[in-house]
Amino acid sequence: MAGGALDGLRVLVTAGGTREPIDSVRYVGNRSSGRMGLALAAEAARRGAGVTLVAANVALPKPEGVRRVEVETAAELLAATQTAFADSDVLLMAAAVADFRPSQRADEKIAKSGRERLSLELEPTEDVLAELARGRAGGQTLIGFAAEYGEGAIERARAKLERKRLDAVVVNDISRSDIGFDAPDNEVTIVTPAGESRVPLGSKQAVAAAILDEVEAIRAPSAEVSNLRRDP
Ligand code: CTP
Repeated sequence: MAGGALDGLRVLVTAGGTREPIDSVRYVGNRSSGRMGLALAAEAARRGAGVTLVAANVALPKPEGVRRVEVETAAELLAATQTAFADSDVLLMAAAVADFRPSQRADEKIAKSGRERLSLELEPTEDVLAELARGRAGGQTLIGFAAEYGEGAIERARAKLERKRLDAVVVNDISRSDIGFDAPDNEVTIVTPAGESRVPLGSKQAVAAAILDEVEAIRAPSAEVSNLRRDP
């Protein structure tokens, strides 16, 4: 689309949740559906950006005009994003990346018979976002997403913002059942070095629009500080 606010910008979006294999049929995974990432990809494309979507196990159709790369594991997601990130202006890291994976993957299905119990040993995965942030070039904008539980969510998100050296962290309160995982609606707080802003309950499309408004504000040439007000 010509004439959009993000015309000429290359936006990389990750969506969904990684699956880390235990054996040939089982995996360690999470409940992310990919809806928020898909809404971001669709909205960025609508605003004129060239969008690459790295989708981890997303069962939903991809938005029109978006290039889609399929991945399954955290390691595959790291490889795919590293390649695409080099040519991107904006990273929207909405995927839920498994923090741990089984240290060993059985080649065949593990049988139940003959076992009293089964222990899984897990090892940490790569922190994809931190890894990309370490290699970032000037002018790249990096947005992280944090699923936090209840009290202290904003403080923990701010710590992630600083630790991973991001431009913003979008916080989801997962103690609420009406928003978040696989729900059509969401309500988030966008945390930046300048402050934080609450995005009221709305469709994931409306929330995606608010997040991209913030990306535009961060990237605006005159934006010494973003358009956020610091909450008292
Ligand atoms: N992330 C990532 N790679 C991981 C884990 C997380 O790239 N192995 C990214 C997520 O996509 C998200 C951001 O980091 O954009 C924050 O994820 P979160 O799991 O909340 O952060 P962690 O640093 O893993 O913190 P916690 O100790 O709360 O799990």
